[in-house]
Amino acid sequence: MNEVKLIVSNWKMNLNFSQSMNLIQKLKSINYNSKRIKNIICPQFMLIPFVAEQIKDTKILLGAQDCHYEKKGSYTGDTSLDLIKKMKCKYVIVGHSERRLFQCETNQIIRKKVDFILSNKLSPIVCVGESLQDRKQLKYIKVVQNQLNECIPNGIKQIIVAYEPIWSIGTGVTPSIEEVTEMITFLKSYLHNTKNIKSCKILYGGSVSSKNFKELVNSSNANGALIGGASLKNREMKKILTFG
Ligand code: PGA
Repeated sequence: MNEVKLIVSNWKMNLNFSQSMNLIQKLKSINYNSKRIKNIICPQFMLIPFVAEQIKDTKILLGAQDCHYEKKGSYTGDTSLDLIKKMKCKYVIVGHSERRLFQCETNQIIRKKVDFILSNKLSPIVCVGESLQDRKQLKYIKVVQNQLNECIPNGIKQIIVAYEPIWSIGTGVTPSIEEVTEMITFLKSYLHNTKNIKSCKILYGGSVSSKNFKELVNSSNANGALIGGASLKNREMKKILTFG
């Protein structure tokens, strides 16, 4: 298949200044097919201006790991979408399970962010996914369906959703290819048919590495991957970006 894959690096709160500059230099030298791959890097906020400067003449794209849903105001510690846009970020990750857990983000807050990002003509990457308990109790489709309903408006032109089973994030444990395919097929059909969204890109995230990338992302019909741990390693990214 020749469709474009989105490879999103979620650096989380990792890499100091020199480590990030080092990694970006190495990533810049990877010769991948930019007609088949969109290489999107999401550094922590303080690194964004420096990474933006480094990648300005390359095909590498930039994203943020979060934003506030108000334009400006008394929100100590938060970062505005205006500044994120100014730094040429085109994507914003929202609703990551770590933010849901550690920052108490609810579907309602995530929805406000999604609306605000869309109204600013940037692309939200909306994270959804079930806990291990939800999976064991066979509630995973219901949980994810509720996240889609509460976080994403109906009838929009396009959306990017990252399916990240919480039990797979940073654990090295991944769902089977059948489990990933089942969820991706559900997400595409629900977003398209029930929520009436024309273009839906579904990423898989959770312990993606160069070893499992082909199976989890290519064979499952995903449109790409959201990568945490492996995105911090130049060699892993080289293999992933030049797959196939
Ligand atoms: P991981 O993280 O690849 O380290 O599991 C993925 C994510 O949290 O986006």
